[in-house]
Amino acid sequence: MTKNVALITGAARGIGLATTKLMLGRGWQVAMLDRDSDELASAAEGLEGARPFICDVSFAGQVEETFAAVLETFGRLDAVVNNAGVAEFGPIEETNFAAWRRVMETNLDGVFLVSQASIPALKQTRSALVNIASISGLRASTLRVAYGTSKAAVIQLTKQQAAELGEYGIRANCVCPGPVRTKLAMAVHSQEIIDAYHDAIPLNRYGSETEIAEVIAFLCSDQASYVTGQVIASDGGFESTGVGLPALRT
Ligand SMILES: NC(=O)c1ccc[n+]([C@@H]2O[C@H](COP(=O)([O-])OP(=O)(O)OC[C@H]3O[C@@H](n4cnc5c(N)ncnc54)[C@H](O)[C@@H]3O)[C@@H](O)[C@H]2O)c1
Repeated sequence: MTKNVALITGAARGIGLATTKLMLGRGWQVAMLDRDSDELASAAEGLEGARPFICDVSFAGQVEETFAAVLETFGRLDAVVNNAGVAEFGPIEETNFAAWRRVMETNLDGVFLVSQASIPALKQTRSALVNIASISGLRASTLRVAYGTSKAAVIQLTKQQAAELGEYGIRANCVCPGPVRTKLAMAVHSQEIIDAYHDAIPLNRYGSETEIAEVIAFLCSDQASYVTGQVIASDGGFESTGVGLPALRT
């Protein structure tokens, strides 16, 4: 029986690794892409059905070469998850152009490049693109001029993809995670930010990698066969609420 194949970027740790494991457990094969070669090698070790591919998604040449290698290895692609991301937080006036570009080249250019490279293979299988944005792309906050703007752009890019690729049977959807205690988040979440998130989230806690992976896996699956162009926040209710939550807590 032919197994479905997912390509997941930023798969060496965090949400990407959790998604890899969840999908392997559901019978998928996974091409794990990451630019951190050491972490990728140790993450992929012992994962049956997964193969690591070292790739920096912000370089068009590397993306092109990696797609050729992935297709040679697996012969098909049934889902592409654009999960690789970086976070740098800082005030607008102190965010220099180099920091802005570092965020944009992975979070936005990377999604554009990987998605474009995947179109021929996804046309063959009439399957799924899932882009990982953030609640920071849905609601503005301080310190996120580059990160939040990159994620808002990913949301719009997803809608553009859904509009244009639907005629080929390709679905494009976007997941906006709330805060998860990964290396990325813990590097930029001060205690004040952690407290603020707890206050602003109806479920009153951070999410787990697996809780985000469940939503991604659903959107990759045939169970979501009539879902495209959607933005789904897996965020403990953050996006839906306004002021007053802490005042009403007992
Ligand atoms: N953790 C959170 O709180 C949170 C919240 C909202 C959105 N997100 C998004 O979820 C995604 C995954 O984040 P995470 O928290 O698991 O982070 P993480 O730092 O644990 O993992 C990100 C992975 O992406 C890889 N990566 C980064 N840039 C790359 C590039 N240019 N090419 C290839 N690989 C690259 C890293 O090496 C790393 O393995 C990101 O897009 C992030 O913006 C995370």
